[in-house]
Amino acid sequence: MKKIAIVYHSAHGHTEHIARCIRESIQKIDNIEVSLLNAVELYDQPEQLVEFDGIIWGSPTYLGGVSGSFKNFMDSTGKIWRMQQFKGKLAAAFTVSSLPAGDKQSTLLSLFVFSMQHGMIWLGNPILPEQHNGVPYEEAANRLGSWSGLMAQTEHNSSAESFAMGDIKTAQIFGQNFAQTLQQFNI
Ligand SMILES: Cc1cc2nc3c(=O)[nH]c(=O)nc-3n(C[C@H](O)[C@H](O)[C@H](O)COP(=O)(O)O)c2cc1C
Repeated sequence: MKKIAIVYHSAHGHTEHIARCIRESIQKIDNIEVSLLNAVELYDQPEQLVEFDGIIWGSPTYLGGVSGSFKNFMDSTGKIWRMQQFKGKLAAAFTVSSLPAGDKQSTLLSLFVFSMQHGMIWLGNPILPEQHNGVPYEEAANRLGSWSGLMAQTEHNSSAESFAMGDIKTAQIFGQNFAQTLQQFNI
């Protein structure tokens, strides 16, 4: 049995909704246990994460980077970094923002560098954008064309669950791919 943690921060529920979609897709995979963990609650005890084989990071994009709350969590892992206790674990990340581009790439890059400093193994989002095969843009998996991690976009002031079908589908495939890749790893 392999264990996956999804560690997220979400002030208004959008990032949490995508985190839940990822969790649902992982729950369908055999021999994998998945936990949804709030980064704010982990701040005092990030060592809880050491028992997991794979960790998916999720933060909203705030001013072109991770949210302050997520950064607080990242900084709380200093002792874990010194002991390299995340070394060899599988890592991936997702972010949500309100603008079509919105500088989401910077957020993913920050989470990539964080994972590399911890000696983790980065997994991207290997999905060909389905609109190239005639699927309507709003329904297309990886419609935003992000391979380094999962991106989702929702309008400013929209309800927490209001995402294009394509972004929900992307989250499901992303979660499934993470779990299936972890199963192939002997870690
Ligand atoms: C302080 C702040 C900064 C933001 N900066 C960006 C940004 O740089 N790019 C963008 O597209 N959206 C930006 N947004 C919008 C959020 O990314 C968007 O509302 C997201 O869905 C919030 O996720 P949450 O509901 O999980 O907190 C910002 C929102 C806030 C509150």
